[in-house]
Amino acid sequence: MDIVLYKKSFIDELGRADSIDAISHLEVTYLGRNGTINDVLKGMKALSIEEKKIAGKDINAFKIFVAGEIQKAKTILYQKEEDTILIDVTLPPPLDKPGTLHPITLAVNEITAIFNKIGFIRMSYPEVDWEHYAFEVLNMPKTHAARDDFETTFLSGSPDIEKGKMVLTPHTSNGQVREMERLKSTPPIRMINIGKCYRPNWDATHTPMFHQFEGLCVDKNITIANLKGTLDYFVKSYFGEFAKARLRPHHFQFTEPSFEVDITCTMCKGTAVVDGKKCKICKSGWLELGGTGMVHPNVLIAGGIDPLVYSGWAFGFGIERVNMMKYGIDDIRNYYTGDIRFLNLF
Ligand code: FA5
Repeated sequence: MDIVLYKKSFIDELGRADSIDAISHLEVTYLGRNGTINDVLKGMKALSIEEKKIAGKDINAFKIFVAGEIQKAKTILYQKEEDTILIDVTLPPPLDKPGTLHPITLAVNEITAIFNKIGFIRMSYPEVDWEHYAFEVLNMPKTHAARDDFETTFLSGSPDIEKGKMVLTPHTSNGQVREMERLKSTPPIRMINIGKCYRPNWDATHTPMFHQFEGLCVDKNITIANLKGTLDYFVKSYFGEFAKARLRPHHFQFTEPSFEVDITCTMCKGTAVVDGKKCKICKSGWLELGGTGMVHPNVLIAGGIDPLVYSGWAFGFGIERVNMMKYGIDDIRNYYTGDIRFLNLF
């Protein structure tokens, strides 16, 4: 029994083993139940006790050597395989964490569900629309400031004789008359139009692309009381039971009367005080949410609806804005920089 010879042939064979399979095969050949080392152990029966002691030590040392070398060789080969995977640019990246929906998508889904519960149907109207739907039918004359190049992005191309130029719609109110037309001017209408809007602004509370959700409700006997009830339902569902809505007089061309909606401040919960000091976010207990009002008779007429028979209300709020208010985010640009640390918060 010459362990030196066994060791030499093991080293030779290991040198030739160039795959995980070949090394596993070598492992079985030497360390397996019917492998070389067990065969050598069986051959020790004929030896004296003294000889067994010496040979046993040598065989054990050889066994430890073989197991260690096999382990090392496997590790090197596995590492090589991993390196090959890392530089294979055609393979998908290793995914240790599944992706999540963007916070604005989550907000869109949540708002849709809140309005679905009270019978409002989710609609999406064009992001690139005619001046006709974005302004004209909304009672906004050609001279209105919002129809200026500085406020709205106009597309090049020849205007349509009836519908005017094409614009990147600056608000979701372009869906109001479109929805009336879709329903063939026949109320009841309960729409929640959610979409992208475009205005050339860029600061902590404005981005050139943002999202609005627009509620429109038209039927017989619709009053400001229905509007207030719906707004209270929305703010409680979205922000929490503590929240209330408040209406302040305002002006929009397409609603009469018009209001700004305020909601209970999400930071001080309407008390105007945080830690014994004036709330820095609202200073008054209220935060501004967006615009609303009773649909102007001219808009109903543009949609083929008789304002003497039907009445309605509409509102338009920024999705980024409500989300910022809910989670205390102080810069809207966070939503669009793609910074994973921000996105991971949701
Ligand atoms: C309007 O857009 C009206 N169409 C809302 C309306 C609808 C009133 C129906 C009455 C009836 P306003 O310009 O205030 O209103 O915009 C509404 C909200 O959109 C704002 O409160 C703000 O939250 C959001 N918003 C407006 N411009 C931007 C912008 N550049 N970036 C992010 N959010 C914006």
